[in-house]
Amino acid sequence: MANAASITGIGSAFPKTIVSNDDIAAKLKKLGLETNDKWIRDRTGICERRYSDLENADERNSSLGLAAAVKALEMAGKSPQDIDQIIYATCTPDTPILSTACWLQHKLGAPKAWTMDLNAACSGFLYGLTVAEQFLITGKSKLVLVIGAEVLHPFVNWYDRGSCILFGDGAGAAVVEQTDEGSRHRILSSQLQSDGNLWELLYVPAGGSNIEITPEVYAQHLHKIKMSGREIFKIAVRTLSDFAVRALEAGNSTINDLDWFIPHQANRRIIEAVANRLDIPMDKVLINIDRYGNTSSATIPTMIDEAVQDGRIKKGDLLLLDAFGAGLTYGSVLLRW
Ligand code: ACO
Repeated sequence: MANAASITGIGSAFPKTIVSNDDIAAKLKKLGLETNDKWIRDRTGICERRYSDLENADERNSSLGLAAAVKALEMAGKSPQDIDQIIYATCTPDTPILSTACWLQHKLGAPKAWTMDLNAACSGFLYGLTVAEQFLITGKSKLVLVIGAEVLHPFVNWYDRGSCILFGDGAGAAVVEQTDEGSRHRILSSQLQSDGNLWELLYVPAGGSNIEITPEVYAQHLHKIKMSGREIFKIAVRTLSDFAVRALEAGNSTINDLDWFIPHQANRRIIEAVANRLDIPMDKVLINIDRYGNTSSATIPTMIDEAVQDGRIKKGDLLLLDAFGAGLTYGSVLLRW
């Protein structure tokens, strides 16, 4: 029988510091900009988010990834020695060179693993899951650790009140193991695509090899997130809807079969618009944006972990994961838990 892939462990971790909408409003006020709790809640659904303490080595991207990975391994009943491959989805690496996956390996162990970073922004976890699935299907790997983790707040432009309110820090991890196609609990379908022509809608201009961070570049905030929120909003609603349908069709399933819809958490209004378009009742949609904001590649695995821990996701449930991100990138995965 052909091979397939199954998530056997899930974990998450967040930094300790909670930053409320009032905290953000107070910070912007000092810069001469106005925002308030009501606007942020009404327009995004976000009440608070977490920020890493950059002085605390335990709250670096790879350290949050480590804490999430340890929990995922524990749930799967595996040890770092069992890992063949680590895929670390992030757009906010610890360092440009070397990979955050290698930082994680340094902290976790995993002596026989080969490791890589994967940058698909907010679609990163679904890209990672799909890459892992391919290695498990071919038999090249038996156990892959997939991480989605970000420390986004250092990239926030405090002079752009439309984007600085959105982002938070956090990490999720999944242990993905080889199973066989006859298994009920496995990834059933996945769909990935990107459109690099839309690069300008969300990016950080400087800090890569294109533009060196000089004092002039720094003063223009070119090392910070530049985002066209209104344009992304419209594309997100359309593509999340399209990719949800594509994964369902490829997995021979319908909306009615779903137990949980788990979309990327970018804006509550985007999620509601997609659920409305697809006719998915809101009580089947998992949302944590109120407490964590947009943690990019971490939103989906942290949401799964929370719902597994509190008993909402049960063994045998049909889950539809759906994301979009800077690039733009798109992805959806249908799986039976
Ligand atoms: N507080 C108060 N007012 C604000 C704020 C703020 N923080 N931000 C913007 N406004 C004002 C604007 O200036 C504008 O005022 P004007 O009408 O006088 O010009 C008004 O509010 C409306 O602005 P819009 O940009 O139209 O507001 P919108 O309802 O579209 O909400 C938002 C903005 C929240 C950015 C929304 O467009 C959005 O969420 N877009 C998607 C962003 C996204 O998903 N990004 C991540 C994608 S990929 C990834 O996750 C990495």
